[in-house]
Amino acid sequence: MNEDDERLIHQADELADLLVRHGLDATSSVLDVGCGYGRLALGLLHATDHDGPYLGFDIQSRSIAWCSSALTPIFPKVRFAHLDVRSERYNPKGSIDPTTMSFPARSGTVDVCALFSVVTHLYRADIERYLTEIRRVLRPGGVAVVTWFLFDEARLPLVTSTQATYPMIHELDADTRYMKEGEPLRAIAYREAAVVAMAEAARLEVRTIQRGTWAGEDGDVFQDLVVLARSTSDTTIDPDPATSQGRPDRAATARVDGRIRRLARRGRRLLRRLVGGR
Ligand SMILES: C[S@@+](CC[C@H](N)C(=O)[O-])C[C@H]1O[C@@H](n2cnc3c(N)ncnc32)[C@H](O)[C@@H]1O
Repeated sequence: MNEDDERLIHQADELADLLVRHGLDATSSVLDVGCGYGRLALGLLHATDHDGPYLGFDIQSRSIAWCSSALTPIFPKVRFAHLDVRSERYNPKGSIDPTTMSFPARSGTVDVCALFSVVTHLYRADIERYLTEIRRVLRPGGVAVVTWFLFDEARLPLVTSTQATYPMIHELDADTRYMKEGEPLRAIAYREAAVVAMAEAARLEVRTIQRGTWAGEDGDVFQDLVVLARSTSDTTIDPDPATSQGRPDRAATARVDGRIRRLARRGRRLLRRLVGGR
């Protein structure tokens, strides 16, 4: 992720702290969607007393292979799964359609769902599916902490200016803007009202919208933060998806190549130094 070790841990701690601020407790079950190289898992281990189940999944097999061979052997409570979901940026040959995919979690079992810097790389139809899945897996009262790039008419001059870290100069449609010509999924922004409408359509409540600093304003977070909740009165538990699409750790680890194995060895040494084994 182009960070040095100390910066990685600092950012990991900040992600974990956001979950604590929005309801994570020691026993919460966590689903980390688009977990990448396990940054949130590191933060939970390093900066919190979280001891509940954690599952991270991602569509890039290399990051899951790394997490499964560097993190899980030291901290068996953190588990990772690879889903071969298609994305023109991250997994162009993926076999699973993002608009019909299922999260690798049972219905009504997750307390906190995290999507850090993930919907900032998804098209709207995929986000709609992911919101539906978030509601399915959350238990009533559970929350989803999701980071976005948001705009409305008032913010548009900032969002499209060079002051923004990701100037959203291109328009895909009236509710969608992006930064890089020909590569919308490099960084994609949505109209705030459209995000609220998508959440409501998925039967999720919008608890908090906090603007970040990415467009040049002051703030405590970098990307915009939206906290969604499944209502406590929404107690219908949907059937689980017929088949689990998540590959178990074993399969991901079996495909680990020599470079990942070397990186994982280095990762395990680093983790013992920074986080301490349990
Ligand atoms: C910028 S990284 C963020 C990683 C991690 N959440 C973090 O904060 O360190 C974006 C991640 O989203 C994943 N991703 C992209 N499209 C996805 C999708 N459709 N479903 C799940 N993960 C996806 C990528 O593979 C990548 O690991």
